[in-house]
Amino acid sequence: MKHLLKLMDLTEREIVEILNTADQLKYEKKNGIKHHILAGKTLGMIFEKSSTRTRVSFEVGMYDLGGTALFLSSRDLQIGRGEPVQDTARVLSRYLDGIMIRTFDQEEVESLARCGTIPIINGLTDYCHPCQVLADLMTIREHKGCIKGNKLCYIGDGNNMTNSLIVGGIKMGMSVSVACPKGYEPDAEIMRWASVNGEFTCTDNVLEAAKDADVLYTDVWASMGQEGEAAERKKIFAGYQINSDVMAVAHSDAMVLHCLPAHRGEEITDEIIEAHAAEIFDEAENRLHAQKAVLVKCLA
Ligand code: CP
Ligand code: NVA
Repeated sequence: MKHLLKLMDLTEREIVEILNTADQLKYEKKNGIKHHILAGKTLGMIFEKSSTRTRVSFEVGMYDLGGTALFLSSRDLQIGRGEPVQDTARVLSRYLDGIMIRTFDQEEVESLARCGTIPIINGLTDYCHPCQVLADLMTIREHKGCIKGNKLCYIGDGNNMTNSLIVGGIKMGMSVSVACPKGYEPDAEIMRWASVNGEFTCTDNVLEAAKDADVLYTDVWASMGQEGEAAERKKIFAGYQINSDVMAVAHSDAMVLHCLPAHRGEEITDEIIEAHAAEIFDEAENRLHAQKAVLVKCLA
């Protein structure tokens, strides 16, 4: 695997390999087993948006694997002043062994990969968030024992998380249902692909989507870059919330996941987050192990 640009590029087998490596690295970390797999390697981490989990998990992940990570804020880079991504890619390819980038436009990530000569890892775009979903799949497998055959229900905005969850879920043999207001559906092409390649539904009816779900998932109503729409979105998304009514129609042992950060009282109630904190914070922890597995696959 050269890059991780989006989950659509990965086969089921490649996803399973990443999850297996992540499980192994988690076990080894818990048992104090140290690695030098990436000794002498440097990862550049370009951030054009804020981050807690992605930044810290990649930075600690590189350190754990014997390498170094550089935090590169677009506020300080020339890219923030308009230096073309093609030039940036060619320059950084001469200094670094890999780039993790969080930005707006998916095309910027794809073009870094085309123009540079080093592995590019997508740390979130407006289109998708593949690293998060690898950690989510790892957490589902950990808690449920398997991924295949589970029903994953996503409630809320059809955003970057939804797009990656649909692709990852369908590739791994889950049935996927999405509930979102009309006009806020996930990417049309991804929905078409999902309908052809697996069991997929999209509705504006929350309880219909959540019926018999094994995994319930939600994310913020206004993503990074949509802050100006937050007030309007609060009205549109009212009701697209994981709460006790939704839990009542899901399977009694349904797990709840959230990529975080969460807006308690909006897309999820405080009560449900706390009741499912074990799963949600395992999910956050698993970002570290899943990221390390991706780094090993792309950089080692
Ligand atoms: N879930 C996630 O990507 O979190 P950060 O925005 O904190 O990186
Ligand atoms: N949809 C959210 C995910 C944050 C991890 C955003 O893009 O802001």
